[in-house]
Amino acid sequence: MSESNNTQISFVLNGQPVKAHVQTHHSVLDVLRNTFELYGARESCGQGLCGCCTVIVDGKSVSGCLALAADLDGTQVETVEGLDASGQLDPVQQAFIDCGAFQCGFCTSGFLLMSKQLLASNPNPTESEIKHYLAGNLCRCAAYPEIIQAVRLAADRINAGSQA
Ligand code: FES
Ligand code: FES
Repeated sequence: MSESNNTQISFVLNGQPVKAHVQTHHSVLDVLRNTFELYGARESCGQGLCGCCTVIVDGKSVSGCLALAADLDGTQVETVEGLDASGQLDPVQQAFIDCGAFQCGFCTSGFLLMSKQLLASNPNPTESEIKHYLAGNLCRCAAYPEIIQAVRLAADRINAGSQA
């Protein structure tokens, strides 16, 4: 591999400034897992179709299996590991646990991040809005009813908290 295929990137990862040396062909998933040992985002389809590798870059969801690590330079990146950075589970994480919204858990990090994104833009989504927003995330264990229930529960708890 030639030296010119190396590039150094700097970005903010779950609130912390970080640097990494990456090859130009490395994916976001490669750098998260191999450089930072963050394993929450997972590769399943590897084709941008399932949402298991979802991370949030500058506020937008990205398929970590397809996005290039070099493009992270200068961005703000959030992964599932950042959700409980305060030491407390995010309301979405707690609701997924309380509703049993997973079986094997392979898809869960993607669903958690997307559910959080949904509630940030629509604090009181209907069942159909939840289904529509999460349509790009696939769960092979078919935990969809519990996932929808968990998103509704998280919404109710967040809304109750904001009115308290
Ligand atoms: S592994 Fe990236 S979308 Fe499926
Ligand atoms: S809980 Fe197994 S794939 Fe979703």
